[in-house]
Amino acid sequence: MSNNWKFNKRRDFLLGLAGITGMVALGKGQSIYLNYSIQSLDNQARTFYVYGEKSLKERAATKGLIYGAAASHDNLISDSEFAKVFIQQSGMMVPELEFKWSSGNKRLRPDQNSFDFKAADWMIEFSQKNDLLFRGHTLVWHHALPNWFEEQVNRQNAELLLTKHIQTVVGRYVGKVHSWDVVNEAIAPSHNIFNGLRKTPWLDLLGTDYIDLAFRLAAQADPSALLVYNDFGLDYDNSKDEAKRQAVLSLLEGLKSKGTPIHALGIQAHLSGDSHSFNPQKFRDFLSNVASLDLKILITEMDVKDQNLPFDTAMRDRTIAAAYEDYLSVALDEKAVIAVLTWGLSDKYTWLNEFQPRKDKTPVRPLPLDAQMQYKLAWNAIARAFDHAPKR
Ligand code: XIL
Repeated sequence: MSNNWKFNKRRDFLLGLAGITGMVALGKGQSIYLNYSIQSLDNQARTFYVYGEKSLKERAATKGLIYGAAASHDNLISDSEFAKVFIQQSGMMVPELEFKWSSGNKRLRPDQNSFDFKAADWMIEFSQKNDLLFRGHTLVWHHALPNWFEEQVNRQNAELLLTKHIQTVVGRYVGKVHSWDVVNEAIAPSHNIFNGLRKTPWLDLLGTDYIDLAFRLAAQADPSALLVYNDFGLDYDNSKDEAKRQAVLSLLEGLKSKGTPIHALGIQAHLSGDSHSFNPQKFRDFLSNVASLDLKILITEMDVKDQNLPFDTAMRDRTIAAAYEDYLSVALDEKAVIAVLTWGLSDKYTWLNEFQPRKDKTPVRPLPLDAQMQYKLAWNAIARAFDHAPKR
């Protein structure tokens, strides 16, 4: 493995010191990757120069990688400029809401016995028409469950309900879905239950084998799709993320050892622009450990929060770009990583305005394009990471 990214990081850090006023002192033996101040995350001397005119999907494809993004039916339908840019930049689409049981104004499961595929079908057709690969997101999750779920689902009928859901939804789109997020966010070590599992309705209803069951059902319904376990909070060097990495690794080991048809780990990568604790070596080691289980890896929902960054837009954009490039340079060094998706493409449409808004009420800027569909430094950062990535 090349050590270039380490060198660059160190060099950028040192360059950055020049501009720092309230610099933190480094303790003896302390890695310079750790605990550096927010000012050093914004390094004005760092350039994000990109050569050529190619789109993100083309740059990724040159390296045997896939670039894609999340989008929603309503935004693609109502905003033709967005749809156009989306097709230009992305080689893969993941639906933000339409394949969840019930999310926003979309109801895939209006009731226990029926399905409403209108929006989901539209997303699939859009992706086919425009040569986009497609990710199914998501079959089993503790969020986005319909209102009727709690009242009507019990230990007697839960297995049948899940079986029918997976058979029907996965079966409908056989051959059209590159990968399925079969189970989303099943690990939460802080819940202090068996094997780091999250306390969810599915665990209560079906017991600890529900993850294995979901993967087996998905594999039966579509033997050709890549089946993914997807989770967040795997990125940083703190005790919470470390516990989560360990618990996810043991989950994956356990599933592989009992022959569960699982093919990949999805790392959501919802990063924070103000986080001080990305540790390239620890994250890289985690990726190697996952790859050694003969699993592929997808970065599935990347964005960089600027909720706690200062108002200065230029500073925010530099900091966010740096977080993208640092993280992706390490991630793409691992050849098991096959795809990078951002959770949205333009700041015009990002869940973070609602879920993690800024105190000063100014719009957040977590994605590669701004709200006017113009390239930001984050776009350059992703392009550079693809350009520097080893070929698959
Ligand atoms: C989010 C969507 O972006 C929101 O619009 C929705 O209301 C809630 O879910 N992890 C996931 C995604 O796996 O499905 C979430 O998407 C973001 C966090």
